[in-house]
Amino acid sequence: MFHFSSLSALCLVATLVAAGPCDIYASGGTPCVAAHSTTRALFSAYSGSLYQIKRGSDGATTNISPLGAGGVANAATQDSFCDGTTCVITTIFDQTGRSNHLTQAPPGGAASGTDPNGFDNLAAADGAPVTLNGNKAYGVFIPPGTGYRNDATNGIAVGDAAEGMYAVFDGTHYNGNCCFDYGNAEPSVRDTGNGHMEAIYFGTGGPGGAGSGPWAGADLENGLFNGGNTAANPNSPSLTSRFVTAVVKGEPGTWAIRGGNAASGSLSTFFSGARPSGGYNPMHKEGALILGIGGDNSDRAQGTFYEGVMTSGYPSDATENSVQANIVAAGYAATALTSGPAIAVGSAVSFRATTACCATRYIAHTGATVSTQLVTPSSTQALKLSASWNVVTGLGNNACVSFESRDTPGSYIRHSNFQLFVNANDGSKLFSEDATWCPQAGLSGQGNSIRSWSYPAHYFRHFNGILYAASNGGPDSFDATWVFNDDVTWVVGPAFA
Ligand code: AHR
Ligand code: AHR
Repeated sequence: MFHFSSLSALCLVATLVAAGPCDIYASGGTPCVAAHSTTRALFSAYSGSLYQIKRGSDGATTNISPLGAGGVANAATQDSFCDGTTCVITTIFDQTGRSNHLTQAPPGGAASGTDPNGFDNLAAADGAPVTLNGNKAYGVFIPPGTGYRNDATNGIAVGDAAEGMYAVFDGTHYNGNCCFDYGNAEPSVRDTGNGHMEAIYFGTGGPGGAGSGPWAGADLENGLFNGGNTAANPNSPSLTSRFVTAVVKGEPGTWAIRGGNAASGSLSTFFSGARPSGGYNPMHKEGALILGIGGDNSDRAQGTFYEGVMTSGYPSDATENSVQANIVAAGYAATALTSGPAIAVGSAVSFRATTACCATRYIAHTGATVSTQLVTPSSTQALKLSASWNVVTGLGNNACVSFESRDTPGSYIRHSNFQLFVNANDGSKLFSEDATWCPQAGLSGQGNSIRSWSYPAHYFRHFNGILYAASNGGPDSFDATWVFNDDVTWVVGPAFA
């Protein structure tokens, strides 16, 4: 028979073993009031939907759930639902039961996305594949112009009330624009003044810290902070690991920024102290939730989100340290960004179109313009060379590739305003990312579809003979859904010259 104390000890052990981040926050007296993740359940008992996807072929939606209670997302459901078409993430569900779901962000006071209605774009569902202890899952890859929001929340801190938050990001995906945020913002989607936001900001847009970034910081509205004021904070290290944990918390008078490597080790405190002067004390939090954008929908930033929560109350460092241990134990790891027939670095290739109109045409360039041309064995050497490309390690991500022109060494296929160009590498971060492509299995069932690393909803497409980085059903004429799969499917063969 069980002795009572050994039974409760057993239960305690089981609770500790199985606890998710939100179980840990609850034990610390600072419960989650929003919990978002496309990769895993954040409560040990959660088995509901993690996120919803919508596919391009017929507009149907489906929800992705964990493999089991407390488990990793069932990525196989997504893979089969999206097979042979494109998918976007429409909703990231709140796991707390408060319905603080994140959906497509509406237009606001600042720049909005390219959607005709001014809404931000939705993230491609397969832009951020990872594994968690070996199980495949997908994060939320957010290019500029993409964002999620909830302007009618339940239980999120307002005014000067205490709250905490953490998020797991990709330390290799960021920029210096406003604002790759996760956290508390204005339901009006307007900048309503200093102290009206309290969100994690990740990137190089703030005052910064040690090294060249990116840094974990905070967006408190009209101000990105890496410490207690608008100066650089030497105690804030560059967070360049593939997976990053970032933490922000605030209570009346004080706040803190913490962070670390989400795949190993512990959290460090980069700042803890007084609120900044100039309207940030007391705070005027308004309780909306944002992901990937600023409070006023400033949407020129980029980053990748895997999981994050908002709490009620100011979590202790010890509670957050336990959450970090849980994140590390989740076993985030990188996985292949490419699929389909291999396009080997070091080879030289040609790209043959597959649409019925055009199956003897190849990707070629005339100066900077990229188009399809009829190329045959009897074509001139000059035309053959213009249709031949060196495959090199991706300039912006070494898990993908870049295509260098064989007749113009040092020039690469890049997108700009979603048209393809052959341009000289100017050495900038933007160029390297615009010129990085992650080949996939061809969407029409043969060959490859050549997906942009920086905008994973966008693929090499020929449209009226010109090459674009097109998204299925997107806002531009070249995004038309008609023959999209054929137009983005290429047979990649040996170079002509
Ligand atoms: O605080 C930085 C940004 O400033 C906010 O995200 C935005 O609302 C404003 O443009
Ligand atoms: O092609 C989309 C974007 O347009 C590119 O990233 C940038 O170079 C240009 O603004």
